[in-house]
Amino acid sequence: MTEQSPPDFVLVSIITINTCMIIMELTEAKEESLTLEKLPYKTGDLAPVLSKDNVEYHYNVLSKGYVDRYNKGEGDPKFNYGGAKLHNLWWSQLKAPAGSNSPKGSILELINDKFGDYKNFQEELVKTATGIMGSGWVYLSRKGELKTTPNQSYKTDILMPIDMWEHSFSDYTKEGKNAKKKYLLNSMKIINWEVINNRLQ
Ligand SMILES: [Fe+2]
Repeated sequence: MTEQSPPDFVLVSIITINTCMIIMELTEAKEESLTLEKLPYKTGDLAPVLSKDNVEYHYNVLSKGYVDRYNKGEGDPKFNYGGAKLHNLWWSQLKAPAGSNSPKGSILELINDKFGDYKNFQEELVKTATGIMGSGWVYLSRKGELKTTPNQSYKTDILMPIDMWEHSFSDYTKEGKNAKKKYLLNSMKIINWEVINNRLQ
């Protein structure tokens, strides 16, 4: 049996798919340079949910590192791009804890629509986040889905990301196996729902 060359349409399809993949790769890390967004609060303001030490190391060293390395072209550009984008979203959606802090407006409507109520949303959030193997993020998508993304992989549908890398919940290590749950539920006390509502517009 003689080996046959693939028909032209197969070759064209392969070339098209490869071209699309290259374009996707390029568009994922398109900005020439990134900026570390300024914190809209002081580093100690998120305590006791996140300690001053935690915020200072996470923001000044880790988050700044992703931005700097991306801008200098050091390391994996996709990883550093994602790290910079995700952390900018994370820091800018937080505020000092004050009284009860439940979602209002469009975000509450989205949560009620997709999860029934805010309490159930938090339970689902914990379930999804604790299922992450290794380092990653849990996030609420723009369509109101709870999803995870590994490492520092940025996704365009992210509305509200929560850092699930070990460094993010270092204040909770004494909680043992409940560390992630405590950190997640406490994080809800410092979410600035107004910022989330603005992202939804
Ligand atoms: Fe982080």
